[in-house]
Amino acid sequence: MNHTLLSVEEFASRRQRFADQLPNASVALFPANGEITRSNDTEYPFCQNKNFYYLTGFNEPEALLVMVKDASGNSTSTLFCREKDPLQEVWHGRRTGPEQAQKQYGFDAAYINIEADKRLPEFFESADRVYFCFADQPAFEQQVFNWLTQVKAGAKQGKKAPAQLLDCSAQIAEMRLFKSSAELGIMRKANVLSGLAHQRAMKQSAVGKFEYQIEAEMLHEFTLHGARYPAYGSIVAGADNANILHYTDNQDALIDNSLLLIDAGGELAGYAADITRTFPVNGKFTDPQATIYQLVLDSQLAVIEAIKPGANFAQLTDIAIRVLTEGLVELGILTGDIEQLIEDKACKDYFIHGLGHWLGLDVHDVGDYHIDENRRQLRAFEPGMVMTIEPGLYFPADCLEVEPKWRGIGVRIEDNIVVTEQGYENITVNSPKTIADIEALMAK
Ligand code: GLY
Ligand code: MN
Ligand code: MN
Repeated sequence: MNHTLLSVEEFASRRQRFADQLPNASVALFPANGEITRSNDTEYPFCQNKNFYYLTGFNEPEALLVMVKDASGNSTSTLFCREKDPLQEVWHGRRTGPEQAQKQYGFDAAYINIEADKRLPEFFESADRVYFCFADQPAFEQQVFNWLTQVKAGAKQGKKAPAQLLDCSAQIAEMRLFKSSAELGIMRKANVLSGLAHQRAMKQSAVGKFEYQIEAEMLHEFTLHGARYPAYGSIVAGADNANILHYTDNQDALIDNSLLLIDAGGELAGYAADITRTFPVNGKFTDPQATIYQLVLDSQLAVIEAIKPGANFAQLTDIAIRVLTEGLVELGILTGDIEQLIEDKACKDYFIHGLGHWLGLDVHDVGDYHIDENRRQLRAFEPGMVMTIEPGLYFPADCLEVEPKWRGIGVRIEDNIVVTEQGYENITVNSPKTIADIEALMAK
């Protein structure tokens, strides 16, 4: 992960804002991710735990952030991390080590990670509560209980263990939901480099090439611009494969007169872009493809126009359903009374997923979608939230209830949108989207 794009001050201010929410006499724990074995002695590329990353910017495994707010309300941040080790570093890469980590990342203290077992029980002794993100890291709960057990073992010497374990996932998610201007700057860059990749894919598309070859073009462009890894497994889905929502096999040949759906975005400094484009393999939409494509695009544009503070996902979904339903009735794919079909959400037979989701450090980013206790009412948008808008229509090859001309068509169009004070900013600025723009680019 290129983690140099945000300032040390930004991470420090996040820790401060989190600490401000903690009651006095609390400890909060944020473990880093571990490395994950791919096979034998090789690992998957390391991906940092996003909550840990959000609060530290520190991109090594085997680390732990401990935030303490003492009884008088003073807060401190301590990092535990791998020690410097010349032999390991010759083989596996540089380690920051506690001394440099404290200086470079602005922690109040830093220690080698094996000291955690000695120091965590000490932190616990003066705390009433321990916070961590439940079910965020395998086996971490057990680790916390081990430290609690150590403190409790000292009960006869007057040691007191914290009585409450609390989940702070929601507090962190709420912070992550609202992006700072620096975060938005990175997300714009992630979108632009991903847009270049979508352009490249369109230009390189040709009958007979394989989906993985187009995937390679995308990855090439991501990496060229500093996004070493895609934000999620790239979906490069030709023809009927587009009707498999999370198709990542990417192994089939591209067929003449068919569409290619690409859902792929680069991850820059930990932040995801999530863009989908659907275009004709040979550069020219057939009439049925153009018809379905334009309908999905019309619905997407209508939805995006409605994004502003106060709007919510339920309202946007209603707009998408209205546009898609009216279009499907006009095409004879749905029949009946339009208002009744809308009420019945009949278009959901073909628009088979949600309209969008929060976007940020995770592609399906954290952040509560609901506000009321019954968890029915969707929360109103506020400036700084970032979301995807991705309507689609899917007619699998074996979908016998539609005319043959629609079968095998799957279209999704996905942009990334920031809620602003005035309305919205579409940060997906350079991924061609109109039929004219796509065909013009592919004709070059
Ligand atoms: N790329 C997964 C999604 O669009 O939600
Ligand atoms: Mn998405
Ligand atoms: Mn997507």
